[in-house]
Amino acid sequence: MNENRIEARPLEALIDLRGKRALVTGGGKGIGRAIASRFLEAGAAVTIADADPDAASTAAEVGAAFARCDITQPGDLAEALSAAAAGTGTDAIDVLVNNAGIFPTTGSMLDATDEFVARMLEVNVRAQFSAAREAAKRMPNGGCIINMASIAALGGGAHISAYSASKAAVVALTRAFANELGPKGIRVNAIAPGVIDTPGVRAETPALLASGLDIETVIAANPLRTAGHPDHIARVAVFLASELACFVNGHVLVVDGGSRA
Ligand SMILES: NC(=O)c1ccc[n+]([C@@H]2O[C@H](COP(=O)([O-])OP(=O)(O)OC[C@H]3O[C@@H](n4cnc5c(N)ncnc54)[C@H](O)[C@@H]3O)[C@@H](O)[C@H]2O)c1
Repeated sequence: MNENRIEARPLEALIDLRGKRALVTGGGKGIGRAIASRFLEAGAAVTIADADPDAASTAAEVGAAFARCDITQPGDLAEALSAAAAGTGTDAIDVLVNNAGIFPTTGSMLDATDEFVARMLEVNVRAQFSAAREAAKRMPNGGCIINMASIAALGGGAHISAYSASKAAVVALTRAFANELGPKGIRVNAIAPGVIDTPGVRAETPALLASGLDIETVIAANPLRTAGHPDHIARVAVFLASELACFVNGHVLVVDGGSRA
């Protein structure tokens, strides 16, 4: 049995990430960037892994280390994990935020090609699986994995079928990994964001407009009438990575302003 970590510690100590080494994939912009920033604020040593070389400047701005890494490439992934552990004298890390993902507008499932579906599953599922597996091997003293799912996993949105399937797989992997890795002291949870205003979503604006949807309306389509912001997700990621969430495992935390309430 794992030692009972419940002690009379002050609240600020429970949210303190000092001494933790975190790898945030897709941290160059959007949700990943916000998570990297908040983790740094909480004291973690953060490495941003991103396929886009321009993400190096983001890393420099927020104070993170940078590893150019396409998560679908095993060699890139190994280097990013090593970068996250650099300076410890071991290859151990504490936190993986499995955030990098793609969400090109699918359109009708009748028009989705096999190549399109395969690419979606390759990045959002296969590569996320590999990242979790390789990170877990480097968490000998326990740790935390946060997978980025989506509310698209919980329903079957028309015209985002391949994306919905990929994120539903992320939810299933989160639960399976939580069962398997829990005994090793590794907690695995997922965040299911609603629509969040990020560069990736903005890039889909023309497609949204073409289907008669205004992006400003879409990102605020929730009972709070509040546009989803990357920091809404980052705050929850800090909670999940911290000792505040030490008994939270295998959970899918919906952060959508209540859009699915
Ligand atoms: N924005 C939303 O509304 C929303 C909602 C639900 C879930 N999500 C999920 O959150 C995650 C981040 O979304 P975002 O909106 O911040 O995206 P974004 O497109 O704004 O940023 C994604 C980042 O990931 C990087 N990236 C993409 N493919 C990569 C790869 N193969 N290897 C490494 N890096 C890669 C990109 O270069 C980019 O810097 C994704 O998994 C997405 O599916 C987003």
